[in-house]
Order: sequence, then C-alpha cells, then structure tokens
Amino acid sequence: MANSVVETQQQQEQNAIPLLTPYKMGNFTLSHRIVMAPLTRQRSYGNVPQPHAILYYSQRTTKGGLLITEATGVSNTAQGYQDTPGIWTKEQVEAWKPIVDAVHAKGGIFFCQIWHVGRVSNSRFQPKGQAPISSTDKPLTPQHRSNGFEIAEFSPPRRLRTDEIPGIINDFRLAARNAMEAGFDGVEIHGAHGYLIDQFIKDEVNDRTDQYGGSLENRCRFALEIVEAVVNEIGADKVGIRLSPFADYMESGDSNPKALGLYMAEALNKYGILYCHMVEPRMRTAVGDECVCPHSLLPMRKAFKGTFIAAGGYNREEGNEAVAENRADLVAYGRFFLANPDLPRRFELNAPLNKYHRETFYTSDPVVGYTDYPFLESTA
Ligand SMILES: Cc1cc2nc3c(=O)[nH]c(=O)nc-3n(C[C@H](O)[C@H](O)[C@H](O)COP(=O)(O)O)c2cc1C
Repeated sequence: MANSVVETQQQQEQNAIPLLTPYKMGNFTLSHRIVMAPLTRQRSYGNVPQPHAILYYSQRTTKGGLLITEATGVSNTAQGYQDTPGIWTKEQVEAWKPIVDAVHAKGGIFFCQIWHVGRVSNSRFQPKGQAPISSTDKPLTPQHRSNGFEIAEFSPPRRLRTDEIPGIINDFRLAARNAMEAGFDGVEIHGAHGYLIDQFIKDEVNDRTDQYGGSLENRCRFALEIVEAVVNEIGADKVGIRLSPFADYMESGDSNPKALGLYMAEALNKYGILYCHMVEPRMRTAVGDECVCPHSLLPMRKAFKGTFIAAGGYNREEGNEAVAENRADLVAYGRFFLANPDLPRRFELNAPLNKYHRETFYTSDPVVGYTDYPFLESTA
C-alpha cells in the first residue's frame, strides 16, 4: 500500500509539466514554479493594507507557492498613487500581519515588494505638498493611465543631494525590518519600471555628476547600497530584487540595457542574495504592453548565481519552455494570476483561463475585480 502511494507520487512528478515541478529556493522548498507577480491594486485605503487583502492573497496561495505583494511604500515620500500600501508605520505593519498569516496558514511563501516611486509622483501624495524626490530634477511628462483615457500628471521632482541618499537607503533597510516584523518570509527590492531605483540606474534619467551618476558603476551604486543595507538587516537568504533593464516605462530607458543587466547580475552575486527577478525585454510597460524585441534575459540568467525569476507576457507553454530549457528557475505571472486565483491548478489541468478586466485593475472596490474572479468549478 505504502509502496504504491510512493509510486503514484513519483509517477505524478514524472508526468508533471515543468512549471509544476518542485524547486529549492535557498531555504524555501517550493512545490511548483508559478510565482504570483507583484500587482498594485490600489485598495489599501490611506496607505494601510485592508482586511479584504486577506481573502485576495489567500485565494491565490498554494502550499509551497511563492507570492510577491503589490509594491509597498518604504516611507511617506515613497507614494505616487492613490491607496497603495506602505510598511513604514506601526499601523501598516500590524495591518499586514493577518494577511501574511492567512498566506502562511495555506502553506504559501510570501515576499513583500518594497518600493519608492521617486519622481513618479505628485506633490499631493507628498508630505506637506513638497516636491517628489529623484536622482534628477528632470520632470516626467504626463502619461496615460493604463485604462487608456485618464492622464497622470507628475510634479517636477527635486534632485536628492548626495548627503540625503544614505537616509533613503535607510528607509529601505527599515522597511525590510518591518516586513520581517510583519511576518513576511523576505523582501523583493523594487528596482524596476522607472521608479526611484531605476531613476538612478538608467542613463535616460540619471544626469548626476556625483558618485551616483555618470558611469554604469556609479548609476548602479544606489541600488547596490540598498541591497547591501537590506542584506545586512535581514540576511541575504531573504532578499530578492526586481529589475527591468530593457523597459523604458516612465521615460526611464537605458542606452545599453544589456550591459546594465549584466553588470547588475554580476554585482548582485557579491551579496549572495536569494533571487533576481527580471522583466522580459518584450515588456515595454509595467501593465502589459508588449513589443517585438530581439533581446533576451539569457546572459543575465547565466551570470546570476542565485534563483532567477523571469516575468512578462508568459503563458503556460512559454513558462514550461523557459523552465525546461533552463532559461529561468521560476516564472512570475501578473495578469493571469490577477484573474485566476487558482492559476497553478488551471495550468496543471490545462484548463481555460478567466479573462482579466483591465478596467478594474486599480479601482477601489474591495470585491469587484479583486476577490470575485471565479475558481474552476469543483468536480467533486
Ligand atoms: C494591475 C497591474 C499592477 C502591477 N503592479 C506592479 C507592482 O506593484 N510592482 C511590479 O514590480 N510590477 C507590477 N506590475 C507588473 C507585473 O508584475 C508583471 O511584470 C506584468 O504584468 C507582466 O507580466 P504578465 O504578462 O504576466 O501580466 C503590474 C502589472 C499590472 C497588470
């Protein structure tokens, strides 16, 4: 009897699609490779995570599955959108706890994405209506919101003085400490999509003349000092980073994205962090506009020694191929996970997927477009 159970398990593993094979990520044992990508949902009223997030995240939790939170502000200057969560106050930390507990109760592994928007903000989101901070004082031109018709307006940023930079790095360190206090398994440093860290990294934005600007090494210094501070605070085995060297979202492109991605992948090895999460070159924006693109993440995947997560425009087949061909250890899914709480199960059964509704990505309703996407009907 016991033997046949073991045999059936072995057979199941042999038959499993690559995305559904187990993976050891540092100290974490993942039962499959389908990661929930960070997804801003703007339902954290007053920057405080809300009880409805308990259901949302726990719906998307599987035993041994990795989930990454929506981008979460590190300080009161880090915000640029209505009702995104933070992790710099005691109240926010307390509010995260039941959400983290719910994910853990179902056996999930939960990382908090820590974030500073930099110049992608408006003075109305800033303390005392001050100017948003950035690597630069170059303003960002108004951008279409993802619903296609609203326009986001940004206030001209204030360039951080060199002597202010350690304070911002410290905000990331404290946010990481708070994330551990809230019970998270680790943090993902948001270094992608044109936000503050990317505003230092990319040469379309960074026009500094101090040690944080100019050469590639100088532009990456801010990101790496944050990594170092966070690693020293919570341990390298709990730290990941997200990067999008090829994206030009929020006017933050780079003239040599391949060199940049490679430099970062290699530099990160020094800190021995858990994972590097990179966004595919085909993703031009953070919200899913794709382009045909000749570049690949393969050189960075090869250079980075830890776990490599790829994201951006993947479907089931492409995810399976990426894992089978060893182009990634894990694949993060954004829009599909948003609309399919039981995505791993659907991939396992090759079942049809719910369609996502772009118009409710960022609306504030605690249910509609949030926790009301249906599960596959139980056949039991
Ligand atoms: C509604 C929405 C919110 C997003 N919020 C974030 C975020 O908070 N942090 C982040 O790094 N990326 C964010 N992204 C990007 C996704 O994590 C992902 O990289 C992107 O959707 C492409 O992957 P996909 O094709 O699987 O959806 C967001 C995307 C969408 C659609």
